Amino acid sequence: MIMNRSCSSNAYFWLMSFFILSVAVRSQLSPYFYAKTCPDLFGIVRREVQNALKNEMRMGASLLRLHFHDCFVNGCDGSILLDGDEDSEKFAAPNLNSARGFEVIDRIKSSVESACSGVVSCADILAIAARDSVQLSGGPFWFVPQGRRDGLVSNGTLANISIPAPTDTLDTIISKFNNVGLDHKDVVTLSGSHTIGRAKCASFSKRLFNFSEIGAPDDTIETDTLTELQNLCPESGDGNITSVLDQDSADQFDNHYFKNLLHGKGLLGSDQILFSSEDATATTKPLVQFYSENERFFLMEFAYAMVKMGNINPLTGSEGEIRKNCRVVNS
Ligand code: HEM
Ligand SMILES: *[C@@H]1O[C@H](CO)[C@@H](O)[C@H](O)[C@H]1NC(C)=O
Ligand SMILES: *[C@@H]1O[C@H](CO)[C@@H](O)[C@H](O)[C@H]1NC(C)=O
Ligand SMILES: *[C@@H]1O[C@H](CO)[C@@H](O)[C@H](O)[C@H]1NC(C)=O
Ligand SMILES: *[C@@H]1O[C@H](CO)[C@@H](O)[C@H](O)[C@H]1NC(C)=O
Repeated sequence: MIMNRSCSSNAYFWLMSFFILSVAVRSQLSPYFYAKTCPDLFGIVRREVQNALKNEMRMGASLLRLHFHDCFVNGCDGSILLDGDEDSEKFAAPNLNSARGFEVIDRIKSSVESACSGVVSCADILAIAARDSVQLSGGPFWFVPQGRRDGLVSNGTLANISIPAPTDTLDTIISKFNNVGLDHKDVVTLSGSHTIGRAKCASFSKRLFNFSEIGAPDDTIETDTLTELQNLCPESGDGNITSVLDQDSADQFDNHYFKNLLHGKGLLGSDQILFSSEDATATTKPLVQFYSENERFFLMEFAYAMVKMGNINPLTGSEGEIRKNCRVVNS
């Protein structure tokens, strides 16, 4: 096909306009959403997250993970924060005895309500708290688009289906990301979250003893790491004991997670397969390698990927509601 210069730049212009418009229309979120209605919002959230981290550094990781588990189930609508019965998200397999930080969100919400009552959604508070958690752990800053409204249902069945499990294959993990509009690059970039936080023995102990029914440990685990983890998590021991996800710098938001993967030191099965599985060669492995050598790129792309994740299917306008209490829908 022959195209003259003006025609091709014209096409480029329309393509870019379309792209910018569709992003704006699709997200309908803005970093200035509460500039007039709740000007102190950022200061309030920052102070509360700071206090929580002073008390327990791990809480930053827990708040980041809550935002992820919120966004993957019916979009970022604060649904994970709702109390409920055994069919609710809190009781679903990925969250039960594992998701934490709800009391911190309650504290932030009540401070925000004192300053500007009935204005700020729980979904937005969670998105801002996740950003502050990353930054206060030494990670990047980004502007958090806001204007999400709170959902009315918590769907545990959907949480079971949508949130990736540490025992999933790489294909399954990538397709669970695809289902919410994220790609295989986002899998790698966002998995970099595991540079902070902890996991229970129950989340990875299968790898240590009887992996995939072969009656032997996962052979992608480095030998000293294997011995340490077997001692921490004996086969018949308490599955609630925890290990740091990044043994190199547990609470520091850096690229050591990726360096670890190069040396067989990923904690979860879903971590190590990003580098070691056969399927990884054509999908995730090159980016793991790249991030392990380029911390700045990782931190920058992490910020972009968090905005992308935060844009998953938000309720906007008059959809949903602004919850008064993050644990219950307004009556
Ligand atoms: C790629 C698929 C992923 C899988 C299979 C996965 C799985 C897990 C598991 C099993 C744990 C430990 C939970 C426990 O034992 O209690 C964990 C912890 C964590 N995950 Fe992921 N995760 C994934 C992606 C992500 C993403 C996208 C984020 C954030 C954007 C994230 C953030 C975290 C954080 C910060 C922790 C530590 C939480 C804490 O210490 O309380 N993960 N993840
Ligand atoms: C989610 O999965 C767990 C574990 O398989 C199961 O016990 C639970 O009933 C499921 N929850 C829902 C709401 O389907
Ligand atoms: C929960 O999600 C499942 C799976 O998408 C769906 O079939 C079900 O109708 C949903 N339940 C509610 C209460 O929305
Ligand atoms: C490993 O697990 C499989 C299936 O769960 C079981 O049949 C086998 O006996 C186990 N092997 C060992 C050595 O425990
Ligand atoms: C972990 O602790 C919870 C709550 O105390 C308990 O219900 C669960 O059985 C424990 N899980 C394991 C694997 O020990």
